[in-house]
Amino acid sequence: MMFSPTDLAALRSRYEEHGWCSPAARLSAASVSAVRERIDELCASARPEVVHEDDGATVRAVHGCHAFDDLCAALVRTPELVRLAETLVGGEVYVYQFKVNLKQAEEGAAWPWHQDFSFWHLEDGMPRPAAVNIAISLDDVHDGNGPLLVVPGSHNDGIYELPRAEGQRGTHWREHVSTTLTYTVSDERAAELMAAKGGLRMTGPAGTINAFHPSILHSSSNNDSPDRRALLLITYNRVDNAPAAPTRPEFLVSRDTTPITAGPDDRLTLVAASA
Ligand code: SIN
Ligand code: MN
Repeated sequence: MMFSPTDLAALRSRYEEHGWCSPAARLSAASVSAVRERIDELCASARPEVVHEDDGATVRAVHGCHAFDDLCAALVRTPELVRLAETLVGGEVYVYQFKVNLKQAEEGAAWPWHQDFSFWHLEDGMPRPAAVNIAISLDDVHDGNGPLLVVPGSHNDGIYELPRAEGQRGTHWREHVSTTLTYTVSDERAAELMAAKGGLRMTGPAGTINAFHPSILHSSSNNDSPDRRALLLITYNRVDNAPAAPTRPEFLVSRDTTPITAGPDDRLTLVAASA
């Protein structure tokens, strides 16, 4: 179900105003099952891209799968997702980053308040926030299993608490994917911003799609529930916004900036969100 020009224009204007938007479409149940199964297989393999929680055993995330797995490679080429990303960033895109944050039942740990652009700008040298995260939930997400919480409108404020962040540059990449992130925004500051601008929890059935801006302030809490909350995130970057000389591992910052070619795959379909 390709989005109409009117749908895309409305999504873009919502994204520009609020820093996020959600199309009226989601990944079909069969597609979600296929991706979920594949991610479970990848998480069981001993690869550097698989990152664990502090216990060293529970898988926290798996990175860069589009570069080594055929189903994930097909997913990033899904025509509707590519079209949405191109619309939101205003030009051709390539995949900057791909990850699945597993947020395992009972074990999945929080993500402190942060802005992704802090990492991409300060660590990688991404010039502008001309990129977009497309988040696809692989499990049902509810208030109790650690949904992503965003502060709409915060994407227009630039990087918060930049002076402190600048002194922290060059930490090991593990500090960019763990519970103790390098570039955070304090809980106090986030509470003030939420009081002023509001907060939005990205809940919904498996397959739900949300697009959010690199500069939007976001966090998510521990998962104390019996339900896993796996969230797949594709970051598309505008091809003219590639960092000049990134140093972090390729599974965090793709070096191949060739514009992505959209192409359908029988295993992956979008359906109306109301279906
Ligand atoms: C999360 O998976 O809840 C955090 C995602 C992010 O920080 O991009
Ligand atoms: Mn983030």
